Amino acid sequence: MVDRVRGLLGDRLAGVEDSVTPNPCVHALRERSRLWAGKGLDGMVAVGGGSALDTAKFLRVVLAEGVDPDQVATDLLAGRPLGTSSVLPMVAVPTTAGTGSEVTPFATIWDSRTRKKHSLTAPALFPDVALLDPRLTLDLPEEVTVSGALDALSQGLESIWNRHGDAVSASHGTQAVRLVLESLPSVLTAPGDVEVRTRLMEASLLAGLAISQTRTALAHSMSYPVTARLGLPHGLACSFMLPALLEFNMAADDGELSGLVAALGLPDWQALQSRLSEMLRVSGMSGYLARYGVDANSTLPLVGEMFTPGRVDNNLRTPTLDDVEALLRKSLEARE
Ligand SMILES: [Fe+2]
Repeated sequence: MVDRVRGLLGDRLAGVEDSVTPNPCVHALRERSRLWAGKGLDGMVAVGGGSALDTAKFLRVVLAEGVDPDQVATDLLAGRPLGTSSVLPMVAVPTTAGTGSEVTPFATIWDSRTRKKHSLTAPALFPDVALLDPRLTLDLPEEVTVSGALDALSQGLESIWNRHGDAVSASHGTQAVRLVLESLPSVLTAPGDVEVRTRLMEASLLAGLAISQTRTALAHSMSYPVTARLGLPHGLACSFMLPALLEFNMAADDGELSGLVAALGLPDWQALQSRLSEMLRVSGMSGYLARYGVDANSTLPLVGEMFTPGRVDNNLRTPTLDDVEALLRKSLEARE
């Protein structure tokens, strides 16, 4: 991939930043950005998964003219809004299907010292161009494929059990959920099928558009400490509780969730819950949870950290600590 980009851009390419890590850390990125300062970059082409795209979003902010990178890092850690609208132009080329980061104005950046997740957010962060080519996803490892598909499923659902939804986000979210339900089992048996990969990439795109309006909600809020403390990949961490969360949110349904059930051609929400459980089963969720040591013992002490401001308050039904604990128990007991 790097060779292809080099070949296409020739001497217009100032260099390649290939030090991207999963769950990029603000301190490492700040350090890394010093190498690029003063190089007179006109823009960047970000090729990779969610972490690569989020890394590029951070760099396009701190490398823009007139921006103080230390101030950006300080504001990010303090939860203050980004104080600049000046960013480098960015072309996003996702090589995974799931985060939808190519069409969102958010970048998820972590602080590895405190193990906390932070969100860089500003309208200026929408990539200028998103190029989606499903062929780039054909040889992804199964865990990355599954995690991405489940992230798109979770984001689609989270845009619907959300206080900030509208007709447009509901339509995008519903289509994303439908595409993942149809395509996730197929991609596991036919990972090289470009049609199936296309549908998953569309799901990722549509879910990304939906959450760019609504942001995410309780599933994502609950996921962050599980990823930070236990290393469970994002898409797995934000989806193992989806069947329980559907039931929890049905009690506060304002019509969007029953609309989703009807649009999917299902008789009732219990049928959707069964489909979600089936997705987790075919994805091998129990095995992933066991591999990363995710069980009641390891996660119940994290309940207090699962209330992420700016996420949990988007959720249709407001949870208490006891609710989150019950949701966690139900989700993990179902798989043990
Ligand atoms: Fe997500």
